[in-house]
Amino acid sequence: MDFPSFYMDHLAGGRLIIGLIASLHVLINHPLAVGAYPLLTWMEWWAHKNNRPDVDQLAYKITFVVFIVTTTVGAMTGVGIWLSTSLFAPFAIGSLLRVFFWGWFAEWLVFISEVALIMAWFLTWKKANTPEKKRSHIRIGIALSIMSWITMALIVAVLGFMMKPGEWNQTRAFWDAMTNPLYLPQLGFRTCFAFMTGAVFLWFATFFFTRVSKGTRDDPQRKLRHWIVYRLSHVVLVALLGTFLFGTWYWNAIPDAMKANSSVALLTQEFMSWHGKFETLLGWTVLAFAVIGIGGLGTSFMIPRWALLIPSFMGIWLLGHFERAREFMRKPWVIGEYMYSNGVHKDELAFLQSEGLLKHATYVKHRQVTDANKVECGQDIFMLACSRCHSTTGLNGVIEKFGIMYGVDKDWDSSGMEIFIKGMHQTRTFMPPFPGNDKEASALVAYLQHLRSTRQSLPGVQSVGISISPQAAAAAGAQP
Ligand code: HEC
Repeated sequence: MDFPSFYMDHLAGGRLIIGLIASLHVLINHPLAVGAYPLLTWMEWWAHKNNRPDVDQLAYKITFVVFIVTTTVGAMTGVGIWLSTSLFAPFAIGSLLRVFFWGWFAEWLVFISEVALIMAWFLTWKKANTPEKKRSHIRIGIALSIMSWITMALIVAVLGFMMKPGEWNQTRAFWDAMTNPLYLPQLGFRTCFAFMTGAVFLWFATFFFTRVSKGTRDDPQRKLRHWIVYRLSHVVLVALLGTFLFGTWYWNAIPDAMKANSSVALLTQEFMSWHGKFETLLGWTVLAFAVIGIGGLGTSFMIPRWALLIPSFMGIWLLGHFERAREFMRKPWVIGEYMYSNGVHKDELAFLQSEGLLKHATYVKHRQVTDANKVECGQDIFMLACSRCHSTTGLNGVIEKFGIMYGVDKDWDSSGMEIFIKGMHQTRTFMPPFPGNDKEASALVAYLQHLRSTRQSLPGVQSVGISISPQAAAAAGAQP
């Protein structure tokens, strides 16, 4: 309402783009930045203490990979999250920024130091050639590990808040937002998951950086592999237990209404079997990590290199699914019990429903529905109320959805559609209530019927430019 709508038809509000960028970011951040840095630092420390240059060398080689990936794709997708969310959901990012301003400011400082530390750590590794210098070098690694964890710890506060703001909804206090009810369980869950996947990554990388000749039992490379596999399998098992315990706590802290989204409300939808699939996937992934972890305790040579790909891919798949489930369950909210996914505040809903949505929107063509402008008004209403989740005829296309309900080759009864739209939150709790008045619901239906026959694609503000209703323009002119 307060922002022009950036919209790409077929993509449904850019959720997919945000999701892809954010998932890639998490897939790099958790195993590599949060999980691998502390494990690599620990390897460096151990090598120093026990005078094992081979372990030090290996840690350095793996760090090279982690360094490249985190400072390129990792950092770029981090910026990408800002870019995509501010384009597609500026109202949500705006609200979150107001709540978390100092938290995010602190996160920015921590992130900057994280980048500086990783540069320093990697680039001075070879120069740390005296015990004195080595100790300082290890300290850089420790600082880097702490900073990486803190950036995640700050961001997790925002993610937990979006699902369940807790006390904040009454107090509006920063610290209540930071310490939301989902904060600790989610932080614990993500930390353990990061260590678990980070350990498997190191294990996998070790198999690439060591060459073992057949038959020779006391081959030093073989010993090196054994050294790492034995220790990392402990990390995998302990972190797996932690992931499971924190995961259970996390699940129990999620509001019941949102949990209902994950199964009950979806029973009629295409995600019907999704909840079950998720649980099965979770079970298999836990099992895969457990097998690898227990296998590593025994003789490491039993586990072939490719076998490590199984838990790795399952971990990736699980994390992707988890982020998707988390985002889906939050619907109809973008910020729990505070702001709906289409940017409408909970408190202003009743007001908009009686006064009209267009009347209080800035970037619309008209503020009053008339017979002549019905379709144009309907299009603006679709943009404001539906386009963050539906496209016209593409992804999660609204025409296809109505087609399933009313029949693709039948006439759609306009008054029936109006009734559905006005009660859509009651029948489909994951959709927000319609935020407009009766005339606007009927304008939306007129647009949808028009859209059905023309299938005209709907351009976003980035391609057609901003339109401001004459009244809004006049009001802005009156109060410069
Ligand atoms: C918060 C996101 C969101 C918003 C906003 C939203 N929807 Fe939906 N809608 C969904 C989801 C998710 C589905 C289920 C898709 C599926 O199962 O394939 C859905 C399903 C539907 C369906 C099919 C319902 C059924 O029972 O099969 C219709 C029709 C629909 N939406 C219309 C609308 C209209 C019109 C608007 C705007 C006034 C709107 N939606 C706003 C997320 C949303």
